[in-house]
This record gives sequence, C-alpha cells and structure tokens, in this order.
Amino acid sequence: MLWLDWASLLVRWFHVVAGIAWIGASFYFIWLDNSLREPPEAKKKQGIKGDLWAIHGGGFYEVAKYAYGPAAMPTTLHWFKWEAYTTWLSGFALLIIVYYFGASAYLIDPAVQHWSPATAIGLGLALIFGGLALYEAACRSPLAKSPKAFALFLVSLICVASYLTSQWFSGRGAYIHVGALIGTIMVANVFLNIMPNQRKMVKAVAAKAAIDPAWGAGAKLRSVHNNYLTLPVVFIMISNHYPMTYQHPQNYLVLILMMATAAWLRHFFNLKHLGIVRPSILVSASAAMLAIMVWVSWPALPSQSHLPAGDSSNTHPESRQMSPVTQATVTSLINKHCVSCHSASATDDVFKVAPLGVVFDTWQDIERYAPQIHRRVAVTKDMPFMNKTEMTETERQQIAKWFNAR
Ligand code: HEC
Repeated sequence: MLWLDWASLLVRWFHVVAGIAWIGASFYFIWLDNSLREPPEAKKKQGIKGDLWAIHGGGFYEVAKYAYGPAAMPTTLHWFKWEAYTTWLSGFALLIIVYYFGASAYLIDPAVQHWSPATAIGLGLALIFGGLALYEAACRSPLAKSPKAFALFLVSLICVASYLTSQWFSGRGAYIHVGALIGTIMVANVFLNIMPNQRKMVKAVAAKAAIDPAWGAGAKLRSVHNNYLTLPVVFIMISNHYPMTYQHPQNYLVLILMMATAAWLRHFFNLKHLGIVRPSILVSASAAMLAIMVWVSWPALPSQSHLPAGDSSNTHPESRQMSPVTQATVTSLINKHCVSCHSASATDDVFKVAPLGVVFDTWQDIERYAPQIHRRVAVTKDMPFMNKTEMTETERQQIAKWFNAR
C-alpha cells in the first residue's frame, strides 16, 4: 500500500495549497468588500460605488468596485474559480484514497457499525450528495428569501449530518464526511450559482445591456454561507490529529459545538471589517471554547481512573493499590495488542510501516511513549486502531493503573 501513502501525501499537499489559495482569496475579497469606502465624485460618475487604497509588497494599489459593471469589457478579467474547484477535486480524491481505499482501516469502526466497505462508502457518498441536493433545493425554494430561516435550515442540515455520520462511521470517518458535505456545498455555491451569475453579468457588459441586480444578490447569499463555513471546515481538516474530539462518546456534539463557536468567531471578524468591534463576541466565543474543553477533557483529567459502570474494581478502591502492574504484564499487553502495527517489523495486513514511526519494540520505547500510550488506550481509547486487536476494558485499566503508579 506504499503507493497509496505516496498518493495520499502528494494529493494532501496539493489540497492544502489549493485550500490556502481558495480561502485566502475568499477572505481577501470579503475584507475588500467590507472595507470599501464611498468614492470621490469623479469616480462616482464612472459608476464606481466603492473605493479602496492599500499598500502591500512595496506598492500602492487602487481598487474600485463598480455598482453594476464597467462601460466596456476589460481585455483581461480575472476569475477566481479554480482555487475552489481544485480544492474540491483534490479533497474528494483524498477522501477516496484515505477513507474509501482504506475503508476497513479508517472509515468502518466495528464498535459503531459492522458495514461492508461497499455499504459504508455508499452511505458516505449518499450523505455528501444527498445533503447537497437538499441544500440546492432549499436555495431554490421560498426559504432562500429569508436569510435567517435559511441559516436555521443550513445549521439543522449540518447537525443532522453530524449525528447520522457519528452513528455510521468511525469518529474520524464521521468528521471527514461532514467536512466533505460542507466543502461540497461551498464549491457547489461557486459552480452552480456564483459562476453562472457572473457569466450573465459579463455577457451583459459585453452586450452593453443592463445588469439585473438579482444576479449579484443571489451570489451574495451563497457567498455569505461560504464565509461562515470556512472556519468549521478547516477545523474538520485538522481534527483528525485530535482524538479527544472525534473519539468522544458524543463526538457529534463536540463537532457541532466547535463548528458553532468557529462560525460565531467568524462573525466577529465580519463585523470588524465593517468597522463594528464587538468584544462580547470574542468573550463569549472564548467562554464557549473553554466550556467545550472542560466538558470534553474534565473526566479524563483528575485521576484518569474512571472506570465504566459495572466494572467490579470500581467498587473496590483498595484494589488499585494492590498488586502493581508489572513491566512484564505491560510488555505482554503491548505485544499482544500493539506491535502488529507499532513495530519496526509490523505484521498488520494494512499498516506495513509503523504508523507515525511510533514503535513499541523495547521497554525503552514503551517508557518513552508512556503518556501517549496511556492517553490513547485509557482516555480517548482509540488505540488499538479501531480496536482491531480487541483489547478489553480490563486490559485498558491495567495500562492506566501502570501509568498512574509510575
Ligand atoms: C491496526 C494497527 C494499529 C494497532 C494494532 C495499534 N495502533 Fe496505534 N496507531 C495506528 C495508526 C494508524 C496511528 C496513526 C493514526 C492516528 O494517530 O490516529 C496510530 C497512532 C498511535 C499513537 C499516536 C502517536 C502520535 O505520536 O500521535 C499512539 C500513542 C498509539 N498509536 C498507541 C498504540 C497502542 C498503545 C496500541 C496498542 C494498545 C496501538 N497503538 C495499537 C495503528 C495501530
């Protein structure tokens, strides 16, 4: 599977660069739009409604936004669409490479649902394109006339998608599908609405015909949605490094709260560009973030000895002191459950190379990674990967006990 790893690396690299270009351009234009000021009379006479001066990279720039369009078509007109298209294409390719080719490793968690790869992939695609179809239908319905009602619909759609995927897929498989749905909606906004409307505007300018303000207004609503979705979608992109989020028992709720906080924070910057500074948004967003952090990680913080209900050792606190877990026990647990992947000579059918280079071949290795081992075995409990080697709760507690006694 080494070639898949290379494909994953190259496509991911490209995806990140394309995403930076897309979101960068998008942030720039939002800032631009919100920073335009009333132009002087002479410019107004040419049909310019917004005026902006900037200095960057050692030069002055003058930007003018036309109320409708220029009198004549400029020879070169820059469009910004390939940033969006290539981000989506590379993201979709990455979804296929990582989560669909590797469905049994990354998408399907037998502890959640025992799907066949075909079923899981089918459900994933149905969610992405079904969700897009619902969004598009809503955009074309009377709902689109009320931005508030529409926002409520969009939030509900994302919440339902978060919940459903969390009941279908592994934690990260669930998160990435919500991200794919959001990314697909964002790029569809460009492809199905913003671009066609802009083509109409360009045609009208070329034909010296009048521009219908409805074209721009339709594109505006979509672009507002995209604006609020950027931070949530970027959170999802990086979330797979943080098992405490996607591995939480209510991982969908963690996701929804993180996305809501991110969008709220985005609102602060949108207002700020307009010259409205609302520190209350920053304060409430920070408070929300802190509350999420405490809710997610508090149970794991105090003694890390919380046991599931029904575990008999829970009722005998003294048993924790008795019989310390020996080095031999820990080594045998690690050998039994981890080294099939985490070894210089990995024997797993999927992971031929130790994931992230993390190996537990010697006691020294185990000691070195002790905090990480403890965290992923007894706190987030996402190791062994998808519990492929079927580690039991009692075994996890032995690791916790060993770690806490160190
Ligand atoms: C089926 C293969 C497999 C098995 C078995 C497995 N792991 Fe992993 N492990 C992975 C993969 C894949 C990653 C990287 C992806 C990730 O971080 O989620 C990983 C990452 C880790 C990391 C994160 C390293 C870092 O620097 O972030 C730790 C720690 C870890 N595993 C510990 C364990 C322990 C302890 C066990 C046994 C109880 C175990 N793993 C069993 C596949 C496996």
